[in-house]
This record gives sequence, C-alpha cells and structure tokens, in this order.
Amino acid sequence: MDCACKRDSDLTPRSAVKFTVVVLALAWVVLASTHAHAEPAFTGVNGCRCHKPEIDDWLKSGHANAITKLTPAGRSKHDRHAMENAKLDPAKDYSSDTKCLPCHTTGSLESGGYESA
Ligand code: HEC
Repeated sequence: MDCACKRDSDLTPRSAVKFTVVVLALAWVVLASTHAHAEPAFTGVNGCRCHKPEIDDWLKSGHANAITKLTPAGRSKHDRHAMENAKLDPAKDYSSDTKCLPCHTTGSLESGGYESA
C-alpha cells in the first residue's frame, strides 16, 4: 500500500542538518540586513530622560557646561586665564569652531550629532 510515509524517508538526518543550516543562514542574512538600517542616533540631553539619576549627575558635571566654555559669556576668570596660557583669545566666540566642537560637544561633525546654531 502506497502511503505518504514514503516521502518522509527523503528526510535523512543529513538533509535535516542541511535544511537547518540553510534556514539559519537565511535568518542571519535577514537580521543582519535589518540591523544595517538601524543606525544608532544621538538623542541629546532631552532624549535621555530614562536615566534620570545619571542625567542629574551629568548636569552637575563640567561636561554639561563644556559648550558654554566656547562663548565669552560662559567663561570664568580661571577659563580666560587658561585660554591666554593656551594662546587662545578669551574674548573670541569659538562656539562654531570645528577645532573645538568635537571635544566640547557630543557627536559634533558626526551624523545626527551636535550642530552649532
Ligand atoms: C582634545 C579635546 C579638546 C579640544 C580640541 C578643545 N578642548 Fe577645551 N577643554 C577640553 C577639556 C578636557 C577641558 C577640561 C579641562 C579641565 O577641566 O581640566 C577643556 C576646557 C576648556 C576651557 C575651560 C578652561 C580650562 O582649562 O578648564 C576652555 C575655555 C576651553 N576648553 C576652550 C577651548 C577652545 C576655545 C577650543 C578650540 C580652540 C578647545 N577648548 C578645544 C578638551 C578640549
């Protein structure tokens, strides 16, 4: 008597392994291509509210004021003195200067990062 079981005999352990390898390879290709489109992005401080304790610490740190050091109004007497020592002009606005922005902002010159006004 002919039955459907005959077809099952085609599925040897070896072909089952091959089938699994092909399925996994396809899944990897699909996942890898999906990830390639998911570019990481800079959120800025306002997009960081999930980590409130960390943001509060950061806001109290010097890093939160790094950008203000690039403008004359944001500098202390100490800052002006340090700039003179470094042969920089304490009266000058450096807030658009691409030499300073990479260290004094987050993601300056990178896609989605800080952009000067
Ligand atoms: C390689 C990274 C880097 C670059 C580039 C950079 N800075 Fe800074 N800057 C720092 C760091 C780090 C500090 C904090 C130093 C500290 O607190 O001891 C700082 C501090 C300062 C301060 C505060 C004074 C001080 O000494 O703490 C001023 C003003 C300043 N930078 C201006 C500038 C200007 C203007 C430029 C561009 C001409 C510039 N910085 C480029 C990293 C950088």
